[in-house]
Amino acid sequence: MTNIAQLRAKAENTEQQIGGCVRDIVAQLVLPGDQRSDPELRSDLARLIALRKTLKQIDRDFDRQKGDVDRAYPNRAAAAGVRRFFRELHQRVWVNRNIVQMIRTLIAAGPRPLYPDPTPAHGMLAQQTEVTDAVFIALQQYLQPETQAPEAAAHGCFPDISLLPSRFAEHAHAAYRVMLARQGDRPIRFLDVGCGCGVKVLSASILFDQADGLEFDAGYAAVARDFLARSDAGNCNVIQGDALAFDGYADYDVIYFFRPMMTDEGLIALEDRILNHARPGTVLIAPYGMFHDRAADLDCAHVAGAVYLAGCDADEARAQREKAEYMGQNIVPPEHRRRAAKGVYAPVRDLCRATGFPVS
Ligand SMILES: C[S@@+](CC[C@H](N)C(=O)[O-])C[C@H]1O[C@@H](n2cnc3c(N)ncnc32)[C@H](O)[C@@H]1O
Repeated sequence: MTNIAQLRAKAENTEQQIGGCVRDIVAQLVLPGDQRSDPELRSDLARLIALRKTLKQIDRDFDRQKGDVDRAYPNRAAAAGVRRFFRELHQRVWVNRNIVQMIRTLIAAGPRPLYPDPTPAHGMLAQQTEVTDAVFIALQQYLQPETQAPEAAAHGCFPDISLLPSRFAEHAHAAYRVMLARQGDRPIRFLDVGCGCGVKVLSASILFDQADGLEFDAGYAAVARDFLARSDAGNCNVIQGDALAFDGYADYDVIYFFRPMMTDEGLIALEDRILNHARPGTVLIAPYGMFHDRAADLDCAHVAGAVYLAGCDADEARAQREKAEYMGQNIVPPEHRRRAAKGVYAPVRDLCRATGFPVS
């Protein structure tokens, strides 16, 4: 066997060992924190670091010997194959240079609250967010028809008054982490009950596989449809209809409603309808005081902030919140979340995406 052939065999064997080591590490990482074996994880990580060092050395060794390839392989096709192998090996070494850091982040990850500590009102980030929110609201007003449809007002609907986009982002992000913690393979479906011109539907379409809006007012629904079609989101849908009579709530995993109806009676009827039809475990986002006050009397439990779970009791809600707090804070667009990674480090990348940790 030539030196180069030996080097190649060593590289293949090392990568195979890396694959086994990565699988062992991920098998530990998917366990709840208190069931992991820290000594095992530490020794697997040390083994991985050593194997990666060996692979980098092989990469460097080939670089020194690459002038010998044509002599060692007089057959041109064989020589080209060897060069391709080592070129791809070099790329893999480079592309995966941050893998140990990614694993360390997963190992060190502890619980982080679903809602961050309030940012100081006069702090830089809060001030910048205020400016962005103001522009966002102005754009939403620009989208709106001149007036609410008279039929909608007569039905007791609120006009399209927007929840601040930054507040919505907080609630949707918390709901997203609750859904990630469930580790299901099913696509996550979101519904905005009373979506107005559809701006929150567009926000939700970045987090969830499907984002739909239900809207009574024909004018708002038409604007929302047009706006979402032009935004090119592709996973949004607007349903024109009455939320008091809608019978599709059981199709959704996350249901958001921001005080759609004006009167308390209308709102109570709407909340009852949602709670009577949603599947147990559906995540509800209801950012207004009256829902919080009523939640204890309804068949739902408070998770955190404006997030609730339909058909669950306080213990289930606490358990889901605690699991969700272990999720990372990275928002991975749905199409990326479900794209399986390739190669020996694929289990690490898949785990990072599935649990909200950055893939670098
Ligand atoms: C306060 S706005 C909320 C808009 C948007 N969801 C947001 O958070 O920015 C309430 C919206 O709910 C709609 N709505 C009220 N009652 C409804 C009903 N019974 N069925 C469907 N939509 C309704 C209104 O037309 C209005 O667009």
